[in-house]
Amino acid sequence: MEFKEKKFNIGELKGISAKTTEEHLKLYAGYVKNANSILEKIPEYEGYKKEDAFAPYVISELYRRFGFEYNGMRNHEVYFDSLSDGPKPINPDGELIKSITYLWGSFDNWLTQFKAIATTRGIGWAMLYFDRKEKRLLNAWVDEQHLGQLQDCTLVLALDMWEHSYVADYQPSGKKQYIEDFFTNLNWSKVEENFSKAY
Ligand SMILES: [Fe+2]
Repeated sequence: MEFKEKKFNIGELKGISAKTTEEHLKLYAGYVKNANSILEKIPEYEGYKKEDAFAPYVISELYRRFGFEYNGMRNHEVYFDSLSDGPKPINPDGELIKSITYLWGSFDNWLTQFKAIATTRGIGWAMLYFDRKEKRLLNAWVDEQHLGQLQDCTLVLALDMWEHSYVADYQPSGKKQYIEDFFTNLNWSKVEENFSKAY
């Protein structure tokens, strides 16, 4: 049973070039491929355990690596899906905006906080999760692909803040403009769909 690479209908985006998207999708494909190949390799190294003293270390490292590759795959699926089918505004009467307003006072308060999280130094992701136990939204920062993921929470919105997602188009100093353009390009109906499925 393999993880399958998903396809996305991404049209012209404000600020993010077609070349960047093309290269970025190749990176996503790499995460899918590596998640599959790690799962395939582990039983192979299990077989070497008796003869090869290093095999257990290789297995440990493969498991450590799996969290990086698997989350890299899933994070990018949420990110690219939310940039698919053209930009759409958030439904002003929808459940997501109600939930955001309930927790942060207003949509703009939430947006300001989320954008501030996205400017965290270093590579990673600004995330909006739905905590299924408490039935509430949570903002978070995830380092790399996997460090800081919130257990048993469902990803609703994912903003890639790795340099590969914006530096070619914006230069390092254009990070804030990339964040602005991400929200201009965002298809909120995809985010709302993630939220409605998260319950
Ligand atoms: Fe990425």
